[in-house]
Amino acid sequence: MKAIIYEQYGGPEKMELQEVSRPEPGRGEVLIKVLAASVNKADWHILRGEPFPIRMMAGMFKPKYQILGADVVGMVERVGEEVTQFKPGDEVFGELSATGFGAFAEYAISDEKHIAKKPSNLSYEETAALPMAAVTALQGLRDKGEIKVGQQILINGASGGVGGFAIQIAKAYGAEVTAVVSTKKVNQAWALGADQIIDYSKADFTEGSSQYDLIFDVVGNHSISEIDRVLKKGGRYVSTVFSMGAMFLGPWKAMTAKKQLINLMASTTSADLQTISKLAEEGFVKPVIQKTYTLDDVPEALQTMGDGSIAGKLVISV
Ligand SMILES: NC(=O)c1ccc[n+]([C@@H]2O[C@H](COP(=O)([O-])OP(=O)(O)OC[C@H]3O[C@@H](n4cnc5c(N)ncnc54)[C@H](OP(=O)(O)O)[C@@H]3O)[C@@H](O)[C@H]2O)c1
Repeated sequence: MKAIIYEQYGGPEKMELQEVSRPEPGRGEVLIKVLAASVNKADWHILRGEPFPIRMMAGMFKPKYQILGADVVGMVERVGEEVTQFKPGDEVFGELSATGFGAFAEYAISDEKHIAKKPSNLSYEETAALPMAAVTALQGLRDKGEIKVGQQILINGASGGVGGFAIQIAKAYGAEVTAVVSTKKVNQAWALGADQIIDYSKADFTEGSSQYDLIFDVVGNHSISEIDRVLKKGGRYVSTVFSMGAMFLGPWKAMTAKKQLINLMASTTSADLQTISKLAEEGFVKPVIQKTYTLDDVPEALQTMGDGSIAGKLVISV
């Protein structure tokens, strides 16, 4: 099969299209014929082995996973022993970061616990935009954020992969959403359903007079004392970007101000993929795709991710 391989940490120039042998599904695993994939910040970090602590998981001196790509959509080709939920021919989508990545290839392996049936109303490419970004938004808002109807929610970084889904999921849960975005993404944020928008090039949300029940942060560019100022008593701050402040000050703030400061570590499950699929089929979640690439163009897509300022998702059609 064809796959985009890299054998040393570095930039996208370390990646090349190669012919490699097709993987075989083990116990509890399925072999997926990949039809689409998408790029996440995780691929960019693991490609470069930066920040350094990521090497504890991805290999200290050279990459443990030579084929990147977490988000996958495709057709089940074969199933391993003890697979109970899927059969050959099923159209599935899933997230491979817990089982060694591998979606930037013609075939990939997934544990059946990390896939679900593809939403019926989306294309393969649209579906590929969902797994990691939409599940992160769901777990951040619903599980860590304990989102409730009518709450005032601020999403910092509402224009990228995770943030774009966070607007839509927060609206689906009945919250009032303030989206923090750059000037060129203002229209996109309105279209996704934001109730208020703060253009961060013109105003700093931590200096405004509004306070929020839940702040969902995918940028991590403010100190905890700045966040504290605009978080209501009893409110929750959930960050997808590791915050030392949240880790060290979290217990103190919980005790003194009943505010929860939480670092999110999302973990994709079949059940959460099914929830996202249902939200998509009911029309609450619709992916925004900045650009679709071919498998050969994966290095270019990774470079675009590294350059930043993404509007929605970068998708690979295989
Ligand atoms: N903890 C977890 O489990 C988990 C899971 C998934 C992702 N993540 C992390 O979450 C972060 C976001 O992921 P993503 O996939 O959404 O990345 P992304 O697609 O690159 O989105 C980030 C967005 O932030 C915007 N932005 C940049 N500076 C900003 C600022 N000062 N204020 C407001 N918005 C700003 C960018 O657009 P503009 O430049 O146009 O503003 C971009 O659209 C990444 O660091 C990723 O590693 C963590």
